[in-house]
Amino acid sequence: MNPQIAEFLSLENQSDYLLCCGDAAEFLQEFPSQSVHCCITSPPYWNQRQYSGSSKLGNERSVEEYVEHLSAYFQPVKSVLKDDGSLWLNLGDTYKKKNLMGVPWRVALALQADGWILRNAIVWHKVKGNPCNANDKLRNGYEYLFHLVKQERYYYDVNAIRHPPGKPYYKNGQIVTPTGVSGTKYRQQICQSQALNEAEKQNALAALDETLAKVARGELPDFRMIIRGNQRSTHSDSPAYSGRAEELKKRGFCILPYHKNGTKPDDVWQIIPEDQWRKDAHFAVFPKEICEIPIKATCPVGGVVLDPFMGTGTAIIAALELKRRGIGIDTSQEYQMIAEKRIAEFLQSPENKIDQLSLFEE
Ligand SMILES: C[S@@+](CC[C@H](N)C(=O)[O-])C[C@H]1O[C@@H](n2cnc3c(N)ncnc32)[C@H](O)[C@@H]1O
Repeated sequence: MNPQIAEFLSLENQSDYLLCCGDAAEFLQEFPSQSVHCCITSPPYWNQRQYSGSSKLGNERSVEEYVEHLSAYFQPVKSVLKDDGSLWLNLGDTYKKKNLMGVPWRVALALQADGWILRNAIVWHKVKGNPCNANDKLRNGYEYLFHLVKQERYYYDVNAIRHPPGKPYYKNGQIVTPTGVSGTKYRQQICQSQALNEAEKQNALAALDETLAKVARGELPDFRMIIRGNQRSTHSDSPAYSGRAEELKKRGFCILPYHKNGTKPDDVWQIIPEDQWRKDAHFAVFPKEICEIPIKATCPVGGVVLDPFMGTGTAIIAALELKRRGIGIDTSQEYQMIAEKRIAEFLQSPENKIDQLSLFEE
């Protein structure tokens, strides 16, 4: 076992980050098992560029070889990840002879076959995207970020990533929820409904009034209503598949309350790609924002974030910013130096200055 890594990962150690230069698979053999909480990484994409250093990862002749080669790197990742830890894998796709290879999904399915559980396939919508000169296909505007776990139960702090609910307000003397629900439209739909009988209409109106009163009292941030004949339940019309469809069938309506701590982010993230570092580093840096939800949700404060293909250290900086610790590996000495410089600048900037001990006090 590498003494530097073992020391960094020991409980007594109080340094915030460690950067290692070399092959990820070799370094990961040196980690104690189950020693990191969360791995967030963007490995070399297939057939996109030649990185400096000895690694040939990404330069395989066929996509099948790439999938096999890359998947093998995630076996040691699995061992060093805690059983309740998470892996977040960012990958882009590649064309070969005009044919889109579906590389990210091939890798995700290979990891599933290796025993990983795939929890989300997040679409990172790049908003601006890159220009594309081909005049027989669309411009590509997204990449994938896969969330994978080792077992069905894992660490996930959903409240840390909820969007805080907005405030209700009054309009013409009526309470209105933060997303603009005043109940007027629902009331109209209930009263004019051909699909509800009189008793169902009375119950639906009473439930609507009670729900609006809860919003006014600050007990509920927001809600939606499904009324038979007007809205459909989201998943299925069949009571066999949807509890809501059953409620709709029995009572004629249902109230869908929002969570009191706010809504969860969905699986399409609009994040503009980082371009500041491209000028220096000329390769695919991922934006720090992409690390925010993964780290907040799946690494406890003071926990360890690993990036085995750290490049210029974006995930490590994101970890430090969120009061986690970071360990990064990269074959390129040049990128390691850029990462060191970025981290030093981050730690020195007054607004980001981290009290070395603050990670361990909470
Ligand atoms: C897509 S870049 C990662 C960029 C990074 N997310 C950032 O924000 O800068 C992939 C990185 O993997 C590194 N790499 C390639 N093969 C490697 C290997 N076998 N072990 C560790 N790092 C490797 C490359 O040097 C490159 O820096």
